[in-house]
Amino acid sequence: MPANTLSITDNRTGKTYEVPIENETIKAGDLRQIKVNPTDFGMMTYDPAFMNTASCKSAITYIDGDVGILRYRGIPIEQLAEKSTYLETAYLIFYGELPNKEQLAKWTYEITHHTFLHENLKHLMEAFRYDAHPMGMFISVVAALSTFYPEARNVKDADSRMKQIHRLIAKVPTIAAFSYRHNRGLPYVYPDNDLSYTGNLLGMLDKMSEAKYQPNPVKERALDVLFILHADHEQNCGTNAMRAIGSSMTDPYTAMAGAAAALYGPLHGGANEEVLRMLNAIGSVKNVPGFIEDVKKGKGRLMGFGHRVYKNYDPRAKIIKKTADEVFAVTGVNPLLEIALELEHIALQDDYFVSRKLYPNVDFYSGLIYEALGFPVEFFPVLFAIPRTVGWLAQWVELINDSDQKIARPRQIYLGYDERDYVEMDKR
Ligand code: CMC
Repeated sequence: MPANTLSITDNRTGKTYEVPIENETIKAGDLRQIKVNPTDFGMMTYDPAFMNTASCKSAITYIDGDVGILRYRGIPIEQLAEKSTYLETAYLIFYGELPNKEQLAKWTYEITHHTFLHENLKHLMEAFRYDAHPMGMFISVVAALSTFYPEARNVKDADSRMKQIHRLIAKVPTIAAFSYRHNRGLPYVYPDNDLSYTGNLLGMLDKMSEAKYQPNPVKERALDVLFILHADHEQNCGTNAMRAIGSSMTDPYTAMAGAAAALYGPLHGGANEEVLRMLNAIGSVKNVPGFIEDVKKGKGRLMGFGHRVYKNYDPRAKIIKKTADEVFAVTGVNPLLEIALELEHIALQDDYFVSRKLYPNVDFYSGLIYEALGFPVEFFPVLFAIPRTVGWLAQWVELINDSDQKIARPRQIYLGYDERDYVEMDKR
């Protein structure tokens, strides 16, 4: 018997099958040969929410959730957060290697020179209601970009693809900032290409009448670190949406609007917003034990806790905690921090959370920093979507170039009616 195989005996028929094992995985398609009758469809696997199914091979991001490891292209997230910048990390994620000086300069130039939006997009944004959720605006405008760049449909054309990638990474801060200014009834501020990626974003958000906006370096760096931490996270819900939509060969703007829509949900990138709402609702440290008891009784979740992959402390949460201290040194401590620390303290000792391996995730502390930086809660998911853009695009290009991939089209187990006749209205 070859060593790298799995023997499966079908007790219905007594037949045994040898299925190859590659990368500690068997191909679900290899199970189709398992049949009782020749006309059977063949054996399938049932895996709602892809709990144990690899949907692709990828060389971008590695996570070991049991130990709490996250690496982009092999480099630990802790090193990138300490030494890199968002644009350099974006290059690494996209191309697979750290750039040399010239490569980084060219990449930065390309991104910086695509930051402006067509004026019609500005008018589109102006049409939203004053209180439109900025994430709804973000998703709509990203989708609308496809109508401005119809050549983006040529997804097999590497040059065209690269153009759309530069445009998307460059324009998402502008879209985000316009949605923020719209909410506040403030005039939109155009990009300043002399500033860094995050410095320019801060400028478009905060600039008032000053001739030249200079970002606070601590805030600029804190945002850059947060962007590094959010840049990719392998096959999460949003990335899976990007790949599923992209698999029909749709353009990257439309696919990314779908990815951002998936991110918006409170169980995913919308969790940072929910954490702040939760902390405000708890209101005081003395209410924390009661809140924890309610969660244990199933009355809501402790937002910012738990993860499908991490069964240990999310390494991003550790870095964020450190960044929070640096930000609070400038902005003053966020009063909600005390509640968050007490929640963490109690939860990490409580058997309910310990036995389920529920630890703080990236969203538990990021919201506190965003709030200290002066952002409203509705804007938090947008601050997740901006840096995730490069991850979505790198995963999309990997998909397009992967000869194993086809249009994403899962199977189902049909449990509905067998054939039956239509009943006339007067006989129902
Ligand atoms: N609070 C209380 N109980 C929880 C929580 C939580 N935050 N998360 C999971 N559980 C319980 C859950 O009730 C279940 O208990 P039981 O076995 O008794 O039914 C058990 O833990 C396993 O939970 P699950 O829902 O089966 O786990 P999942 O892998 O499907 O869900 C999750 C992962 C992140 C959606 C979930 O932990 C959650 O809802 N967390 C809160 C939302 C959140 O913080 N999301 C941000 C995720 S990190 C950012 C990102 O990359 O998206």
